[in-house]
Formats: sequence, C-alpha cells, structure tokens
Amino acid sequence: MCGIVGYVGPRDAAPILIEGLRRLEYRGYDSAGIAVMTANGKVFIEKKAGKLTNLTEHLNGDTPAGGPGIGHTRWATHGLPNDTNAHPHADCTGQLALIHNGIIENYVEIKARLVAEGHRFISETDTEVLAHLIETKYHGDLVEAVRAALGEVRGAYAIGVMHTDHPERIVGARMNVPLIVGLGDGEGFLASDVPAILEHTKNVVILHEGDIADVTPTGTRILSLDGTEVQRDTTEIRWDIEAAEKGGFPHFTLKEIYEQPHAIQESLRGRVAANGSVRLTELDGVADRLREIDRVYIVGCGTASYAAHVAAYLIQEWVGIPATMQVGSEMRYSPPPLDERTLVIGVSQSGETADTLAPLKLAAERGAAIVVVTNVVGSAITRAADAVCYLQAGPEIAVASTKAFVTQVLVLQMIALHLAGLRGTMPSNRIRTYGLALRTLPRLAAQTLKLAPQIKKLAQRFAGARDFIFIGRGVGFPIAMEGALKLKELSYVHAEGYAAGELKHGPIALLDPETPLVAIATQGAIYEKVASNVAEARARSAPVIAIATEGDDQIDHYAQDVIYVPETPEAISPVIAVLPLQILAYEIAVARGTDVDQPRNLAKSVTVE
Ligand code: AGP
Repeated sequence: MCGIVGYVGPRDAAPILIEGLRRLEYRGYDSAGIAVMTANGKVFIEKKAGKLTNLTEHLNGDTPAGGPGIGHTRWATHGLPNDTNAHPHADCTGQLALIHNGIIENYVEIKARLVAEGHRFISETDTEVLAHLIETKYHGDLVEAVRAALGEVRGAYAIGVMHTDHPERIVGARMNVPLIVGLGDGEGFLASDVPAILEHTKNVVILHEGDIADVTPTGTRILSLDGTEVQRDTTEIRWDIEAAEKGGFPHFTLKEIYEQPHAIQESLRGRVAANGSVRLTELDGVADRLREIDRVYIVGCGTASYAAHVAAYLIQEWVGIPATMQVGSEMRYSPPPLDERTLVIGVSQSGETADTLAPLKLAAERGAAIVVVTNVVGSAITRAADAVCYLQAGPEIAVASTKAFVTQVLVLQMIALHLAGLRGTMPSNRIRTYGLALRTLPRLAAQTLKLAPQIKKLAQRFAGARDFIFIGRGVGFPIAMEGALKLKELSYVHAEGYAAGELKHGPIALLDPETPLVAIATQGAIYEKVASNVAEARARSAPVIAIATEGDDQIDHYAQDVIYVPETPEAISPVIAVLPLQILAYEIAVARGTDVDQPRNLAKSVTVE
C-alpha cells in the first residue's frame, strides 16, 4: 500500500523525507510527494506521478530549508496515479497538509457535505476529505481537530498532518494500517515502517488501532480516539540499516534469494534442538487449546497462501485432522465452519494484509484459536492472535516474496511437527528425524543456490517464451503455483501452476513446442505419477524443465533440462525445490528488462480488501 513518513526537529525535513520515501517505495510507487514548512511559515508541497525519481529529478536538489515535513509514496486506490491525486493534500487555507495510507470508506458522503459547505476539492482521492474535514474542526488545537475528524470517518488510515500554526508538531493517527513513531534525540518521526527512519533512531513506538500521536521534538503524547491519554511501550529495533540495503547486489530480490540459507538458520533458531526435537515455545500459552482442536484452516494471500497450502497437506498427514488452505480474500465471505475447536493459522509476511486480517478477526469472534506466522514484529496481525510465531527472516524489501515464503513454509512445517508432538500423533523419534532434516536446510539451500549459473543459462534460452506451465503434485503443487506466481510478478510472462495430475484434464491443450513446462519432480511417494504427467507433456512436444532430486537417473528420459537439487524428505522438499524457480523467474525478468524489485501495479503489502 502507500508509505508515509514525517519529521519534526531542528534539521531540514526534505532530505530526511526523500531518503525515508526511498526506503518505503516498496509499499507503492504510483506517485511521490513531500510537504515542508518553510522558514517563512508557508507549506511547500511538491508531488509527481510515477516513481520517487520523478519527484527528485523534478526537484533537482532544490528543496526548501525548514520543517516539519511529511512525505508519501502512493499505491493508487481512488483516482488515477497522476500529479493531482498524489499526496500530500492540503485544506482550503493551504495551511494544513496531510498524507494518508488506507481507504476512507464514507468519503463520498463526507465530501458531498463539505462541498455543500463551500470546500474546494482538487483531487479525486478519498484522502482529500480528511484535509478538509480536519480544517472544519480546527480552532487552534491540531490534535483535537484530528481526533474530532477521525471520529466521523470509517475505514482504514495511517495519516500524518502538519499545520503552519504548529511548527513544532506533526500529528499521526492509525486505524487498521501500520504507523510507528520514531523517538530521536530532540526530534520525532512518523513512518509506515522501520527502514524509513532506522538511520535516525532505533527506538520506536508501534501505534495501536485508534491511536493519535502528537509528535514533537521533545516527546510524543499518545491519545485514543476518545481523547484519553494512553501509554505505549518503546521497542528497540535490533537490526541495522544495512539489512535494508542492497549490499552490493543489483536487486533486493537477488539479495533476498541469497539470504535464504541465513534466514532459514534464523527461523530454526531456538525451535529445533541439536537432537532434532521440535518445540515452539510461542505456542506454550495455547497448548491446551491445540490439544482440543478438531480442524485447522490456514489462511493467507498470494505467496503466503501457497505456504499455507503446503502446511495443510502436512498437518493433515501428521496430525490426522482435517486441514485446509483458505485464500484470505475469499474466506471472510464464504467462511467454513468456525468454533472453539477450530485452529486458524494466519500467514502474512507483512502482517498487514487486509484480506488475511479480516477472516482472522471473524474466526476469533467465532471462538477459534488464532495462531499467526508473520515477519513483522508488532504488525496488525499479531494483535488478532492468541500466539505469534515470527519468521525471523529479517526485513524483506523486494515486492516479490522469496525468503519470506521459504521461512513461512519452514515455520509452518515446525508448527505441524509441534502439533504432532503435542497430540501424540507422530512418534517422537520420527519427529526428531524430521527435525534433523530441517537442521540440514541452511546447508542444502546454500548448495542449491550454487545452481544459479545453470539456471541463468536456461532463463536466457527461455526468456522469449510467452507462456509457461508449472506442475507439481502433493507438496510440489503449491510450489508449482509459487513458481508461476514468481515468474508472473517478476517478468510479466504469463504462467500458470497446476496440480500435475490435472494437466490431462484440460491445461494440456495449452502445450506446444513454444510453451515450456516446468515440473516439480523431486523424489517422493508419487514421483512416478509426476514422471508420467511429465511424459504426457513431453509427448506433446513441450520443452520440459524438471526440478529433480540428485541421483535421479530416470527423469532425463522425459525432460530436456533437469535441475538437480539435494535430497530431502518429501515433506521438507518445498523449501529447497522453490529456490531454482525463484532464480529462474529472476533471471528471466532480468533478461526481459523488467523492474525486478518493484514490478508494475504491485505493492508489497496490500492493506485494502
Ligand atoms: C508475493 O510475491 C506477492 N507479492 C504477494 O502474493 C504476497 O505474498 C501477498 O500479497 C501476501 O502478503 P503478506 O504475506 O504480506 O500477507
């Protein structure tokens, strides 16, 4: 979604805002803009459609001195991505400027009322109503005006507001989308996410839903929507700004692909003992409930839904109760049976995805136990949960998910083993065998990434293909879908993932010598069935690329190109099998010259339904 940043303090705001926006651009890149209070007490606003570079090239270093200031990078919802609809937006007086991430659901009725009262609207956005609504409530107290205005709106928002009467203040507020306050030395910050302000402070306050923050250089006061002052903890960020830099890689995507062995190691830390036993202490508080449940739904969107799909297979097999994947955007409106004997596991890298949050809230209302798997400490999803399992993967900046997917699968595998241990559905020696296999994954992932040169050559050969088909069976099926999604996102090449056995029921009609088929054909119980499906495709002259297990001496009868990955137990194999697909998608994207880190039309976290 959008990214917002704000600064109040003795330094010039503009460079801080622009650098902050650069680090938030993964959240949306339809337009960028800043507002700065100048030395003569006026609000300077500059905003441009397109990426941040359009704004910075336009400014050409010529930004006004002074502050405070606010900045915004947009993922368009209401109104075209043009200069006029870009944020910040101003009120009629030009004294107030505002930035917003989210959607104001009742903006049409508020706008009609404000227009009737004589307010002049310039943009097509829902956001602009907030600027004018706060204007109507303003009688000298900016915090009170923001509070009164927000009392009339419905929807989701993280906002930053400044006013020329208040050169020592920015006001932020949050509802259903993230906003943090940074506590600097004699300065204060607002941001959608930590990287925007990490080079200035490691001390942040994660605002709660309904919080209004009065940020000044000397401190921050936080009020709830009813006006009572509330106390929030300060969190110390434990990673450095280098983690949010490319570190010599041409793209964040590639850096994050190569970070996976380390991310896996971090995810395993404290969860799988040297003897292979698996225990997630985060789940201790819900142990009694986990013993009682009789079904499991695992919910996520996009890539996270594929990780959820892998988990559904494993929980069903290892724990012996019905377990299904639910796509977040569908589950709320067509909910399965939910009660106190249901476990719902929410999976979200960002922890902000509205389509995932909504069904989790519904499930909680109906009494289900909620466990979430997320990468972002303190994110909205954690507040909807009875227990939280963090990915511990470090920040993921590239819009297309790689290391978050791999660690989502891994954490879910550990949750499945934990459940099996807790409920006695798997002998402890078998759990330990899996645990020991998990402990080999950092090494095996590093070994698999060494296949990059072979995969790059393949990518260059197939970069011109118009369509790709990916197939897999069992836990390989979600991996096929993730491989196809990665290719679509990164390279804009049309790709579909199918259950290998389904190929003959229709999609096989798509195959021809111009349509490569990528088959997940690693060793497992149904390897031979997959091999038959691959043979069926080969018989239709499709070029076949197989992901197979080292030592497989059969697969090259069916596939012209084989990428051999290290052997793992079948249940663990998705963590390794997906790595070549990530590299394939990345290299095809590079060969086609697409915007790898910020693919068109996408945003890293989608905070609207
Ligand atoms: C991943 O490559 C995608 N950009 C997207 O499918 C993503 O996984 C999805 O939007 C869910 O995001 P989340 O994990 O932050 O909830």
